[in-house]
Amino acid sequence: MPKCTIDGKEIEFSAGENLVKVAKKGGIEIPVFCYHPGLSVVAQCRMCLVEIEKMPKLQTACSTPAADGMIVRTQADSAVKARAATMEFLLLNHPLDCPICDKAGECDLQDNSFGHGSPSMRSTEERRTYVDVDMGPVIQKNMNRCIHCTRCIRFGEEVAGIHEMVAVKRGNNLDITTIDGKQLKTEYAGNYSDICPTGSLTLKDFRFQKRAWMLKKTDTVCEGCSKGCNMEIQQEGNKVYRCVPRENLEINRYWMCDEGRFNYHYTQDPLRITRLKGSAFSPTPHWDEVGMAFKKLANGATVQILIGTDLTLEEMQAIIDFAKTQLPEAKLFHFGTPGVRRTTEDGPLDQILKMKSKTANLNGAELLGLSPLETEIVKAESVVVFRGGRAALPKIDSKNIIGVGVFKESEASGFNMILPSLAFTEKNGTIVNHQGKSQLLKRAVLPVGQCKPLPEILMLVLNAKKREGAGT
Ligand code: SF4
Ligand code: SF4
Ligand code: FES
Repeated sequence: MPKCTIDGKEIEFSAGENLVKVAKKGGIEIPVFCYHPGLSVVAQCRMCLVEIEKMPKLQTACSTPAADGMIVRTQADSAVKARAATMEFLLLNHPLDCPICDKAGECDLQDNSFGHGSPSMRSTEERRTYVDVDMGPVIQKNMNRCIHCTRCIRFGEEVAGIHEMVAVKRGNNLDITTIDGKQLKTEYAGNYSDICPTGSLTLKDFRFQKRAWMLKKTDTVCEGCSKGCNMEIQQEGNKVYRCVPRENLEINRYWMCDEGRFNYHYTQDPLRITRLKGSAFSPTPHWDEVGMAFKKLANGATVQILIGTDLTLEEMQAIIDFAKTQLPEAKLFHFGTPGVRRTTEDGPLDQILKMKSKTANLNGAELLGLSPLETEIVKAESVVVFRGGRAALPKIDSKNIIGVGVFKESEASGFNMILPSLAFTEKNGTIVNHQGKSQLLKRAVLPVGQCKPLPEILMLVLNAKKREGAGT
């Protein structure tokens, strides 16, 4: 493998890798603004200037491919001074907004200013100000904070496939805006806030909710469709405030869609049923009553068990095992997205990430040998529905309906009993995406109310039935 030397450290690289990437491999951070690994390289901010032996002028590390034997100095006097000058220039018009800016604490401009800027500012000129346009429901714009890196324009053109974001006017009047002040029309708008290296484009949903440094982060996977985009849940005080994409070059690269980003809201909806509920219980229901009530309701001559493809492999397997011994006559089916009953009917919804299956584990259900629910209306004397929260509920015609999982008040009419279980933010488990990749959901927050893990609920029912059988 070819090698180059950066700050005295010999580092191996693959052909075509730029100096920013190669330096990172060796644990050396070269500051950047306009460079993003998922976008084209434009080398226009001049933040990544480095000295390269035998080259007469400083070079932009983002646009310079490493070469065998190359000697690079990121800390050469000339490079350090040039980066400080770039910072001074970029900050000429930047407001002193950090105390009220949502980006504070995770802002590249803040970090690079601290690491590479000069402690004082020579400019005494008035700062430039803009009147901002409304960019739609997802993104809040504040052009006063913009440093013209054009990441947003390139993201629109190269990833989201829209051309609304443009740079108009020139020089000190340059304005990054939308054509004719229109709103952004993309289902991937949240990514604008992730890639903007300043607080110019922030999420309306997250605005003034929490300081970035207070959030605790959990690496997990989106359950919004069968793509399985990698993401991070950010929470504080057992409340989820934000989901952001995590890099996975084989699945979602650096991005996620808005549906997946904001999907977590249903888990914190005040109308989510988080306590035992239903006519089968006493006025103050307790888990002790569940076994008896379950037995009464699930004892019809025909029993159907519906398993949401929004559940994890482990949960599905627990249901299958439970049914084998406790309800051997019952018929088991999986359900999830109307019109997408099997993986062969799944496929891309667009050219970016979104898939037709709106549940994460259709593939997993098939791997466990479950058959799809083929009928529009489920008819049986007793029906037990297991659901993670996203699977679309089928119409059910039955006197005895039990729901186990995540349901909203509006979805529970007709159910005789709801046993509240965990949403994807509250549990660990495996899901298999449309490519057949197994990935882990990880618990980010603790269960709320009376919610219990699904296997534990099945054990409670099982033990209650055993106790009854033993006459206790
Ligand atoms: S709005 Fe943000 S991403 Fe767009 S050019 Fe300005 S600083 Fe860069
Ligand atoms: S494409 Fe699917 S998995 Fe990816 S973020 Fe959107 S909903 Fe989630
Ligand atoms: S990051 Fe290299 S010029 Fe902007």
